[in-house]
Amino acid sequence: MDKIQIAEKSFWVGKVDDRPVPFHRLILEKGTTYNSYLLETEKPTLIDTVDIAFGGEFVKKLSNIIDLNTLKYVVINHIEPDHAGALPALMNKAKNAVIVTTEKAKELLNGMFKLHNREYLIVKDGDTLDIGGKTLKFFETPYLHTEETMITYCVEDKILYPCDLFSTHIANHELFNDLAKEDITEDFKVYYQLIMRPHRPYVREMLEKLKTVEIDMIAPSHGYVLRDNAAKYIALYDEMSQKSVSDKKALIIYSTMTGNTGKIANNIYEGLTEAGMETHILNVKSSSIETVNEMAAASDVIIIGSSTRYGDMIGNIEDYIKEIIKLDLSGKCGFAFGSYGWSGEAIEIINDYLKKSNIKVLDSSTLIKATGANDVQLPLRINFYGDDERAEAAINAGRVAAEAL
Ligand code: FEO
Repeated sequence: MDKIQIAEKSFWVGKVDDRPVPFHRLILEKGTTYNSYLLETEKPTLIDTVDIAFGGEFVKKLSNIIDLNTLKYVVINHIEPDHAGALPALMNKAKNAVIVTTEKAKELLNGMFKLHNREYLIVKDGDTLDIGGKTLKFFETPYLHTEETMITYCVEDKILYPCDLFSTHIANHELFNDLAKEDITEDFKVYYQLIMRPHRPYVREMLEKLKTVEIDMIAPSHGYVLRDNAAKYIALYDEMSQKSVSDKKALIIYSTMTGNTGKIANNIYEGLTEAGMETHILNVKSSSIETVNEMAAASDVIIIGSSTRYGDMIGNIEDYIKEIIKLDLSGKCGFAFGSYGWSGEAIEIINDYLKKSNIKVLDSSTLIKATGANDVQLPLRINFYGDDERAEAAINAGRVAAEAL
């Protein structure tokens, strides 16, 4: 199983890993595959490599298939070691190859593999590359599932090389989904839930981009190549990434001094409702403790904010918080937020209160562990307020809280 043809002059040259594979604190009992693809055009091009554990083996195999000095491009869709892990070993032998990737991926590859002295071709969303007989088109797909990711499309073959997207973790030697011994739909869905679901808004953006091209086959990085009914798998992503939290409720309570914390509350509200969550927003100044308590008990997400004055919360919001944390908050999640001028103690004090309760406190650490995303900082601390990236950060925090459920 060194080389399997998937289209004219296009071949799978990856690695089947049929061990139980440690992955994201799980064990992939069915193993997986690391799918690398070689397009033997006038300018031979490799799309992704294999896991770092198999780097030497991969380069040896590839050198039996092609003179590595003739390799013109190595497309790196994603820098995780199961995709780019064999790159250093490969670039050692492929002396003339140019690395094709995103700006962010270049920065990360240089940090990981010290490839500063190699030639890069940086591509942006919609860029195309003539590889002599075929044309590649690139789409940036940030946070699917890491910041630098992109996907590649071959115009002539109508094949999508979507990296981690549309993958399954199943070690197999059949390669094509129509040859699979059993229905892979469930494994395909489980993979989505595990890797892509936390990034649902980005999946929606990616699906919009894919509407601009015709796709006959999907050749992902793991598991089966979807040559039979590719449309079914795109439809499944569409279905699974629809808003899914409409039966959940959120409550935002806040206390604001100059209005900035109130504006942040409104932005968080926007993010939550955009994600399909029924959300209520209460300024404690005009709401009774009984009302807030009742609504907190009926909510799945509780978000509490205050401005900071003299190193503390303002108004009587602390009385409200003391009552809320007496409730059984198991199964609920929440976070603290606020606008501040210099130190923002109120946000941390609210966070401490939440930690004392049995609510699941959303903070940057839990988000990184749950989703791999490091672009949302929680508790949400916003210096003063501006209708700029600070507002966007608050909207994003709302979206993330909705997805966290
Ligand atoms: Fe297949 Fe993101 O690793």
